[in-house]
Amino acid sequence: MSQEIFDKAEEKLKEIAAYPVANADELEQFRIAFLGTKNTIRPLFGEIRNVDNDRKKEYGQLVNQLKQSAEAKFEELNGQLTSEASADIDVPDLTKPVNADPIGTRHPLAVVQNQIIEIFARLGFTISEGPQIEDDWHNFTALNFPPDHPARDMQDTFFLTEDMALRTHTSSVQIRLMETSKPPIRSIMPGRVFRNETISARAHCQFHQVEGLYVDTNVSLADLKQTLYYFAREMFGEDTKVRFRPSYFPFTEISAEMDISCFVCKQEGCNICKYTGWVEILGCGMVDPNVLENCKIDSEKYTGFAFGMGVERITMLKYRVNDLRLFFENDVRFLRQFTSAK
Ligand code: DAH
Repeated sequence: MSQEIFDKAEEKLKEIAAYPVANADELEQFRIAFLGTKNTIRPLFGEIRNVDNDRKKEYGQLVNQLKQSAEAKFEELNGQLTSEASADIDVPDLTKPVNADPIGTRHPLAVVQNQIIEIFARLGFTISEGPQIEDDWHNFTALNFPPDHPARDMQDTFFLTEDMALRTHTSSVQIRLMETSKPPIRSIMPGRVFRNETISARAHCQFHQVEGLYVDTNVSLADLKQTLYYFAREMFGEDTKVRFRPSYFPFTEISAEMDISCFVCKQEGCNICKYTGWVEILGCGMVDPNVLENCKIDSEKYTGFAFGMGVERITMLKYRVNDLRLFFENDVRFLRQFTSAK
């Protein structure tokens, strides 16, 4: 008799071990079957009455073992299923270090423009800006352009109406500044300009200039040369030399172009300076008295100097960029190369 009871209990032990549990529903079935209020182990406890006295202790241990193994299996599977479920939800680990997003880089033109601004700021130049859509007066007439100057041609300039155009240079901001303020005036004027050019490696329909203007009593050519010499050394290095070549602009008299000694080959000769040892970087001159008068500044009392440079040109020289179009394509492979530039 006892043996049959023992066999049933042994059977139950196997049943518990083999019970298939693969998901939360099956686990619940398992719990009801072996641990719930109407579980199938409980009746086996009652059977102890029918077990021979000398085996009661052994049977007691067996049914206790049944209960424990059901509890152990439940705990283990419950733990597994809940950790699998939480793994599925993909909760972010908020204790992890912050995943720093890569920061963008400053555009090389902005880098160089800021450098230019900073150098002139040290000499007391303020910054002025003007509109990119400009009228004929500010872009041409007040700057002493004769009516038949080629820059007024539709071929060279983007005209919007007969009187309005996209400004072709930042010199227009000189006029706006002189019309609205009194000398002493000492300012630089960075900005985008437009010309009707076919786009190529060396020309573009838009680019950037920084214009400079200094108007006061007794401003001389020596001031101009010293200011630009200071700029060239700050921008291209202490041992940079400068030279001025006579030139022509309608709004300056006298006019010049400034070259710097080639900082690439140290004037040994290279393809940057086309084996001349010099590279041109800007135009400049003494403000034409007509221009001062156009802005109602007394040209008997005041004189001034002005200069204008292309930001693209300086950037190309400084960073050896050989295609102007790269500045406007926003190709990150190009832009990323300026990560460390300030
Ligand atoms: N406006 C000239 C240009 O676009 C550059 C320039 C030359 C500006 C001489 C000046 C200057 O102020 O004095 O080519």
